[in-house]
Amino acid sequence: MRVTMNEADYSAAAATAKPMPILIAPQAILRQTARPVKPEDMPSIREGLTGMFSAMYAAPGIGLAAPQVGIGLRYALVDLGEEEERQPIVMINPEILTESEMMAPHEEGCLSLPNQYAEVIRPESVRVRYTMLNGETCERDVDGLLGTCIQHEIDHLDGILFVDHLSSLKRSMIMRRLAKEMKARR
Ligand code: NI
Repeated sequence: MRVTMNEADYSAAAATAKPMPILIAPQAILRQTARPVKPEDMPSIREGLTGMFSAMYAAPGIGLAAPQVGIGLRYALVDLGEEEERQPIVMINPEILTESEMMAPHEEGCLSLPNQYAEVIRPESVRVRYTMLNGETCERDVDGLLGTCIQHEIDHLDGILFVDHLSSLKRSMIMRRLAKEMKARR
């Protein structure tokens, strides 16, 4: 293994790591704006990465933002790969540079709103920029499931949940249903 672990190393290590607990709405930190990651934050971020990947894979989910595990920093994980062929992405300080005018609906769910799904309309494609673990900047155009997932994760860093893109009626229906389900689980 490298002296400094990369995305694939953390993803592979997650198989035997204890998953971090994922916070469920309405938890206050899910509604807060996360602060930008500074270079001095990286050691503690790296320390938590295997546990975060483990939590995302165990759920199972395709994206997980730091606030969902109680960390108020601007970074998130994404992996659209299969178990046999992971495609781990760590996005540090991700930002959307441009959005397509064309909008598209996608069914969305969220690990912080278990079992709740709804069709959300977002820009069909976005140009996104983020820092990778090796410190390099990645700038790319994303659409389809990856585009949706990345927009959803960046929303988390601004305290926004997918239900905020729905009508207030639909949103309160989902939040009530979630509260009921969580109560029944206890
Ligand atoms: Ni989510």
